Amino acid sequence: MATNKELLEIREKETPRGVGIQTSVFADKARNAEIWDVEGNRYIDLGTGIAVVGTGHNHPRVVDAVRQQLERFSHTCFQVAPYDVYVKLAERLNRAAPGPTPKKTIFINTGAEAVENSIKIARKHTGRSGIIAFSGAFHGRTMMGMALTGKVVPYKAGFGPFPAEVFHIPYPIEYHGVTVQDSLNAIDTLFKSDVEPQRVAAMIVEPVQGEGGFYPAPAEFLQALRKLCDQHGIVLIVDEVQTGFGRTGTLFRSEQVGIEPDLMPVAKSIAGGFPLAGVIGKADIMDSVDPGGLGSTYGGSPLGCAAGLAVLDVIESEGLCEKAQAIGKQIGDWAKALQAENNCIGDIRITGAMSAIELVKDGDADCPDVELTKAIATHALTHGVLLLTCGVRGNVIRFLPPLTIEPEVLQEALNVVADAIRKLTDDIRKAS
Ligand SMILES: Cc1ncc(COP(=O)(O)O)c(C=O)c1O
Repeated sequence: MATNKELLEIREKETPRGVGIQTSVFADKARNAEIWDVEGNRYIDLGTGIAVVGTGHNHPRVVDAVRQQLERFSHTCFQVAPYDVYVKLAERLNRAAPGPTPKKTIFINTGAEAVENSIKIARKHTGRSGIIAFSGAFHGRTMMGMALTGKVVPYKAGFGPFPAEVFHIPYPIEYHGVTVQDSLNAIDTLFKSDVEPQRVAAMIVEPVQGEGGFYPAPAEFLQALRKLCDQHGIVLIVDEVQTGFGRTGTLFRSEQVGIEPDLMPVAKSIAGGFPLAGVIGKADIMDSVDPGGLGSTYGGSPLGCAAGLAVLDVIESEGLCEKAQAIGKQIGDWAKALQAENNCIGDIRITGAMSAIELVKDGDADCPDVELTKAIATHALTHGVLLLTCGVRGNVIRFLPPLTIEPEVLQEALNVVADAIRKLTDDIRKAS
């Protein structure tokens, strides 16, 4: 088999550099929380393919469900010859989604497509054009996804012009001095200075900002958005693409904070590694679009839908929401102990298993330590732990283990990260 180095050479020659890769670990096989590369090296996976394999790599029940579906058929196109797993998964998700209002679900392929469809549906439903999004947000790499995203480099720079009528509001982050009231005041100002609420079709918000830095929106903020949207007839889109399917300790974060979204784009962990996404929404809003206005050739692939049904079974039968909370506690306790001995950890954020540490110089929130963040990820990788970074300032390490990870494997990975932090901050101290 080719080595990592040989494959990297092919990758550099044959694939565009715009698809940045974070490691040169070419995967050979993966099971639950572990990946082995083509040279037989083992890694503990704290990235799960960016929050996708919440049920672990190759969960036997997911693999079984997909194998069974594959033996029946792999594609007919739901718009041509519909099939049972699509409608059954829609039925399960409609029952599981937060709030009492009857729901309907459409399936597509990726998170960005789920976001695109949410905006289309909201505009058709309201007959309005304006969209409110948040600074630091990430909603995907399509044209509308980029327009909604609140981070310029590398996601938006050079790709404009974007669809018009998108307005950004500061996301409430106490650690960076932006309170809930500041964000609400900014919306109030927007309504006076830029767009009247009667022209706004939707607000789109991540209930925990993902790529932006794992910042949980306070419950009172999301509840205030719900109220504002009700008051002005605006569709509230809660983007649960990264937070969904147990990651935050409940199936969706919206239920934790007591709100019912109008539309909810979902993807990532929905199908245990198979490409599937959806929009779950209030039935009357979803039905605003006439036949033919929604859909896609591969949308709601039978393999993805079969996997999605198995994922819901696994989440229930293995108690993965409770496990997410236990993972968060384990990471939180570890991070607090480390913070007490090292002020490079400026902030610790735990929402179930959606956990992160923010790295700063001398405990100062205004001095992000990007070099240290990158060095920790590199050091961890050379010691067998696959870690992801994120954050508008690039100084956040996010922990996204599968919810099925064994506590001792998680501890082994955390020990490696702690060693990396101790060694690298020691080196910096000695050099200064
Ligand atoms: C909150 C959120 N929305 C949308 C997307 C886009 O999803 P995809 O990469 O599947 O298109 C992402 C991806 O990271 C995300 O985190």
